Amino acid sequence: MERTPKPSTSPLSVRVGSPTGTSVSSDLWGLFLEDINYALDGGLNADLVRNGGFEFTGSDHPGWGPLTGWGLPDGPGGVEVRSAAPLSMPNATHVRLSAGTRGGRLTNRGYHPEGIWLRPGTYRLRLAARRPEEEGRLVARLAPTAPENQGSGQELVIAGIGDGWSWVELDLTCDWEGRSALELRAATAQVDIDMVELRPLDPDTGAPALFRADLVQALRALRPSFVRFPGGCVAHGYGLDNIYHWKNTIGPREERRPMPNTWGYQQSMAIGYHEYFLLCEELGASPMPVVAAGVCCQNVPGGPQAIPSARMPQYIQDVLDLVEYANGAPDTRWGAVRAAAGHPEPFGLRYLGVGNEDVVSDEFEDRFGQILEAVRAAAPAVTVIGTAGPKPYGPDYDRGWELARRLDVPMVDEHGYRTPRWLLQNLDRYDHYDRRGPAVYLGEWAGRSSTVRSAVAEAAYMVALQRNSDLVQLASYAPLLARVGSTQWLPDLMYFDDRGVLPSCSYHVQQMFAEHRGTEVLACDVEGATARPQPLPSLTTIELRSPRARTHFTEIRTDALVLPDTTVEGEQVATLAAGGSRLELVASRVSGDQGFVVGFGEPGSGTVHEVRVGDWRNQSLVLSRRDDGLTDEIDGPHPFAGVRTDQPIRLRVELDAARITVWVDDVLVHDHVDDVRDWPDFVAGATAVDGTTLVTLVSAADEPRRIDIAIPAAASATAAVTTLAGQAPERGAPFEAFPSPPTPAVAPVRGGVVGVDVPPWSVVTLRVPAQDDVAG
Ligand code: AHR
Repeated sequence: MERTPKPSTSPLSVRVGSPTGTSVSSDLWGLFLEDINYALDGGLNADLVRNGGFEFTGSDHPGWGPLTGWGLPDGPGGVEVRSAAPLSMPNATHVRLSAGTRGGRLTNRGYHPEGIWLRPGTYRLRLAARRPEEEGRLVARLAPTAPENQGSGQELVIAGIGDGWSWVELDLTCDWEGRSALELRAATAQVDIDMVELRPLDPDTGAPALFRADLVQALRALRPSFVRFPGGCVAHGYGLDNIYHWKNTIGPREERRPMPNTWGYQQSMAIGYHEYFLLCEELGASPMPVVAAGVCCQNVPGGPQAIPSARMPQYIQDVLDLVEYANGAPDTRWGAVRAAAGHPEPFGLRYLGVGNEDVVSDEFEDRFGQILEAVRAAAPAVTVIGTAGPKPYGPDYDRGWELARRLDVPMVDEHGYRTPRWLLQNLDRYDHYDRRGPAVYLGEWAGRSSTVRSAVAEAAYMVALQRNSDLVQLASYAPLLARVGSTQWLPDLMYFDDRGVLPSCSYHVQQMFAEHRGTEVLACDVEGATARPQPLPSLTTIELRSPRARTHFTEIRTDALVLPDTTVEGEQVATLAAGGSRLELVASRVSGDQGFVVGFGEPGSGTVHEVRVGDWRNQSLVLSRRDDGLTDEIDGPHPFAGVRTDQPIRLRVELDAARITVWVDDVLVHDHVDDVRDWPDFVAGATAVDGTTLVTLVSAADEPRRIDIAIPAAASATAAVTTLAGQAPERGAPFEAFPSPPTPAVAPVRGGVVGVDVPPWSVVTLRVPAQDDVAG
């Protein structure tokens, strides 16, 4: 039975005042779209065939090859992987199907082991084919994969396949709903096939769908002002050879170069730069390409590498050509390429990201500076966005900002995946930024889980972003999309499977803000709000863990106690009562390949600090803080030679109020002053547009509250109230649609005051006209 919350006794009121003088950036809320979690192939790309180009390799994913994703129901006979005389060099691998032998049949179940989810309708099969000798005939069939599914496969013959590569198309109908497969077999002698696609026909236009309709509809509902693409890490790539080069992703599909994805799969490039631009257009959003700043991602063995100086002029020219592709008239070189692709009108590129949370090194500075200078000269109207590392603090953050100020970069991309507690403790972060420097683009951020707790904290943070919108001009939650069962990163804004979209609680928050856009910020004062205390670091209990290893802990002592020797393995946790302000121990790994974790905290406070020795592939030292079960790094990662079996490590932790100092083998590693500021459990913000007042209330309290909101601009009117109420902070999970989406209601405004019931852990928006539309 659900607990019925009792109303809080503390009176709470909100007073909306005059404009503060801050305009709300018209582009404030946008989307971050990266090919992570199968967001594109297997997601937005409406093509239902997996590995239709037969180009998968072990570089995409260990064990993969040209026939990954394909079934050979009759065995390998009659199916030959070839690359001689290919359709194109970037997509050289193809398959020869031979009739008359045992085999010769290929099936594709798309992105789900049990089959493609088909619904009644028509699907366009498109592939490249040729016959090596006699006349080629291919049989294509859609069929349910499970015997219990209703429906029978329809078989169609593609005849007249010629002796050179040509494109053939066929419409296949389906009159059942369920898991299904596409089957292809040679009906006569031999047929070579490549670039197999199966797309549903759009019921309105009759054309094969480029994007998956339900996903586009869910994105449109977010009313994004901009779409950032293609990453994230995908933009700067896993190594120099993996940097995303836009020119390899445009033009005829077969000329696009598929590439291993930094997230462990292949990008076919069926959605390349041109399609990204088309998607922006479809969503009514400004395109925001992000190009590598001449360096690749730092998370590769050996660290980041820079494009050699001699190759930089060509790389810079490619960036300038991208701007021309997007904005040039059809009579320019790259504008003509765009026009030839069916889009004579420019795409209206206004933002260009250069770099993605890179290590800001001398090489980075050099290459970033060259690109900036070239774009400035060639396209002064384009806003170049610099980068400030992966975290909202730290050496790359500091150096990235210093560089941006020095070079007068107009905007800086900050990233911050942080816990709800961090977000609530940092609502004033942008209140104190220097307004004379670059503007902020909060390019990747999220509250670390798909729960109400995270979504509510995100809403509170968005109120603060909006209030600081003169400075924070753009923001995008990340990542955007995740296919259930194929996810590399959590949390994500929208989950999806073959059958539909599963919006998270955070999605509803983003949508509420998207629909609730004002043009000017109003003063908004809260009276009677309560604050929750953040505990000081504490050694009252300690927790010992050893993920991916077995570790024996000895000589465990605090300034108050000597504790027993303890052995832990994997996720097993040993909790010991300790106390005092100094902890020492010796950790000896017995087996395994990583290090160990020592946690400490006050039971019941919800907060545990953790020293992680041999974190991230046994390569780093990290101090982190876990609040309400969600973890943030708070110091590090610092490079570390690694924990070795049978080489004991001596650890010392000292606490002095909020200060935490940690020594590993007598070397000082962490010297950190923890953030122990209280955090508010109620936040309010207000904006106005065309005489209508827009109020947002965010409650992170466990009790419901009745709140009076004074809105002097609206003496007597009816407020439209939208409530997203989660009831419990831990409600909501990845891979599920959040069960209670926002609900609408109305509330009367009398004498400039409107009263609303604010449920626990909720987000409430009010739209209050100056007066009701009497004519209507
Ligand atoms: O959003 C997922 C990843 O997070 C991005 O690719 C990267 O930029 C960040 O580390």
